[in-house]
Amino acid sequence: MSIIIKDLHAKIGDTEILKGLNLEIPTGEVHAIMGPNGSGKSTLSKVIAGHDDYEVTAGSITMDGVDVLGLDVDERSRAGIFLAFQYPMEIPGVSNANFIRAALSARLPDGDELDAVAYYKNLYSKMEVLDMDRKFTARAVNEGFSGGEKKRNEILQMMMLDPRYCILDETDSASTSMLSRLFLME
Ligand SMILES: Nc1ncnc2c1ncn2[C@@H]1O[C@H](COP(=O)(O)OP(=O)(O)OP(=O)(O)O)[C@@H](O)[C@H]1O
Ligand SMILES: [Mg+2]
Repeated sequence: MSIIIKDLHAKIGDTEILKGLNLEIPTGEVHAIMGPNGSGKSTLSKVIAGHDDYEVTAGSITMDGVDVLGLDVDERSRAGIFLAFQYPMEIPGVSNANFIRAALSARLPDGDELDAVAYYKNLYSKMEVLDMDRKFTARAVNEGFSGGEKKRNEILQMMMLDPRYCILDETDSASTSMLSRLFLME
């Protein structure tokens, strides 16, 4: 079980950013990718997640044998890929609780509904682990959040979606220490 990237080339507009990247990440392992500003770390993250600004011109990405590049962005998410953004977007008008609830509902078979009581119980228990005040559930997604609060909110989304592969683009020290706590809990 792994994500395998072979000879990946990707461009934005006419500029080629990724020029033949090879990488294999087995499940259960943590890998850190380091490189100078502008070297393409966020580009790689977004290409794996399926951002449509980027065009893959050669190479392949497979996840547990599945051709990731053949999937739409939502299919990639439902298949178990999660991306925590370097610069999380603010979504005014959409509460944090409704946002995560919608993402979870989208994973259910047609016609099924999320149990609201169980959902909030789960959400609050994850927020407790992350030391997040409950008032963040009613606030609009990332709107006016501090940098660190945004990063923590990405980790909350990750914990709620329970993905198979997590890409954390430029994770900060607070979320890294959260993650080590999570690993210790498992
Ligand atoms: N829309 C765009 N048009 C042209 N070039 C772009 C565009 N978006 C990104 N780039 C370029 O792609 C390159 C890679 O950027 P990327 O954000 O992937 O780097 P990074 O390794 O994540 O950097 P950092 O460490 O600063 O986060 C940069 O040179 C950037 O300017
Ligand atoms: Mg970056």
